[in-house]
Amino acid sequence: MAIIIAVTNHKGGVGKTTTVANTGAGLVRKSKKMHVLVIDLDPQSNLTQNLFPHERRDYKGQTTIAQVLGGAAIIDDAIVPTSIKGLDLVPSHIDLFEQEPNIQNGAGAVLGLHSALSRSDVLNKYDFILIDCPPNLGTFMTNALYAASHVIIPIEASNRFALDGIQSLFKKVNDVNVFKQGTKTQTLGYLITRCDMRTNIAKTMTTAIRQAFGDLVFRTAIRSNTDFDKAIMLNKTIFQQDLRASGASDYSDVASEIIERLKFKLPSPELVVQKEGTEREVPVT
Ligand SMILES: Nc1ncnc2c1ncn2[C@@H]1O[C@H](COP(=O)(O)OP(=O)(O)OP(=O)(O)O)[C@@H](O)[C@H]1O
Ligand SMILES: [Mg+2]
Repeated sequence: MAIIIAVTNHKGGVGKTTTVANTGAGLVRKSKKMHVLVIDLDPQSNLTQNLFPHERRDYKGQTTIAQVLGGAAIIDDAIVPTSIKGLDLVPSHIDLFEQEPNIQNGAGAVLGLHSALSRSDVLNKYDFILIDCPPNLGTFMTNALYAASHVIIPIEASNRFALDGIQSLFKKVNDVNVFKQGTKTQTLGYLITRCDMRTNIAKTMTTAIRQAFGDLVFRTAIRSNTDFDKAIMLNKTIFQQDLRASGASDYSDVASEIIERLKFKLPSPELVVQKEGTEREVPVT
């Protein structure tokens, strides 16, 4: 049964999309048998622009999350393999902006994504499903939180105001949990992003975030790295861009921490990425 993780923060530009794409890619690198689905629930469609197969950039005939949430398609029809083996994408589309009021006032306002996933076989096909949320507390975040068993909250270390207003996000998670039948959505972790420890702001914010959330903060902080922007320009993940980039090592470590926190049993054989960027298979111990 897939573990569903919503990557969310109502603040913009904190690294949600970067985290979904590269954690997804990081997870599939842990085992050749790992299957990860990433869902773009943001009308901005940045995750889609990053991962959608380049040769099909006209999106011709492509079913997206907009049709799925609008009830016009099943989620299976929207799944696209990415250029990374084991990593699939449910793309978004700018149309989702226009559709938001209909979804908000319809049956799928809260349960839309959950129902779409439950009606399909995807929960049995994937080990992890990661959901990219838009930067607001609206309908799509509600849908993601209801569908997810866990949330990861990226917080940027390069912004003095990164923790301001975080209570609104906690309230949102709680509100959805009150409504949620069965198991509640848990916080899997806070992820420090855009962290340049040479700066005072990063030192101050890292201390503040670790003080505020203790062990819930991932040990790995994602360092600031210009390779992320280069990777996006080329429709690549950081692992495809440069295996030696700090971002590749950081998101690989985040994937390992997720596996550790969830006590997830890796399907063998494990694929280990070595420091120098070469890969080798080792048997799972
Ligand atoms: N660790 C990092 N170092 C340097 N740049 C980064 C890092 N993480 C993300 N970025 C860059 O910051 C920008 C915003 O990142 P991203 O799109 O992941 O944020 P977001 O939270 O999804 O934004 P939005 O709220 O608009 O959806 C992108 O250009 C991305 O390449
Ligand atoms: Mg985004």
